[in-house]
Amino acid sequence: MDTLISVRDLVVGFGQRTVLNGVSFDVRQGEIFGFVGGSGSGKSVLLRTIIGLLPVREGTIEVLGTELSQASEQARQAIQRRWGVLFQQGALFSSLTVIQNVQFPLREFLNLSPGLLDDIARVKLEMVGIKADDHNKLPSELSGGMTKRVALARSLAMDPELVFLDEPTSGLDPISAGDFDELIKTLQKTLGLTVFMITHDLETLHAVCDRIGVLADGKIVACGPMETILKSTHPWAVSYFHGRRGGALAARHLTKAE
Ligand SMILES: Nc1ncnc2c1ncn2[C@@H]1O[C@H](COP(=O)(O)OP(=O)(O)O)[C@@H](O)[C@H]1O
Ligand SMILES: [Mg+2]
Repeated sequence: MDTLISVRDLVVGFGQRTVLNGVSFDVRQGEIFGFVGGSGSGKSVLLRTIIGLLPVREGTIEVLGTELSQASEQARQAIQRRWGVLFQQGALFSSLTVIQNVQFPLREFLNLSPGLLDDIARVKLEMVGIKADDHNKLPSELSGGMTKRVALARSLAMDPELVFLDEPTSGLDPISAGDFDELIKTLQKTLGLTVFMITHDLETLHAVCDRIGVLADGKIVACGPMETILKSTHPWAVSYFHGRRGGALAARHLTKAE
């Protein structure tokens, strides 16, 4: 199977308001798909709709070969176990320790002995660079970068094929954000993950994303590798990718591509 997520003509809204108005795109197996758009454009709404937390008004969403809105409860649960999610807000449970947070999805889905739960969670935390000394800390004792790493470890707890990340580097300083990008790239390669990542970090989009989807006016207005995105004439894409912050990176990218 080449396509892990296939969204067609998706319409999602709240009351009178239509947020997504005909969104179509595919995420291919093994790629890091970056998803970008203005603040409030509907990126998180799209993610939450794909994973079944918000209702579809029109259109179809197929994830891992199954159309979730048509699937039985049992089939939906089976699919849910095959993806991991790092949400934008409230990444961790504040009353649980680091290691308990990572164990949470394992407890929810599997019936494992305490020893095995500890072993698996330790491996995941090691993968994201959280040292044993920090495993029994509470989220309030962690830095922003560590919090995101623990949340990433938790999203990987069930060995997912597909990972959804909602602005994983927002709020991090540039160095921590760069380290996190590297980590995602390494994990994607070593674990063979497919990654759907919402981000407004231009560095991330240039450095780690294989393809990018641009959301504006409730639609995907550009989709493809960075070369394609840089050629888009949509006003939002132009101002974002060729504007004050994006311009220098775009110039560097185009020189490199020559
Ligand atoms: N549960 C909800 N009820 C009503 N409106 C919502 C809800 N969730 C999101 N919205 C609205 O949908 C729009 C898109 O939100 P969101 O997807 O969170 O934006 P972003 O692209 O910044 O992630 C916003 O205007 C937001 O206020
Ligand atoms: Mg959001």
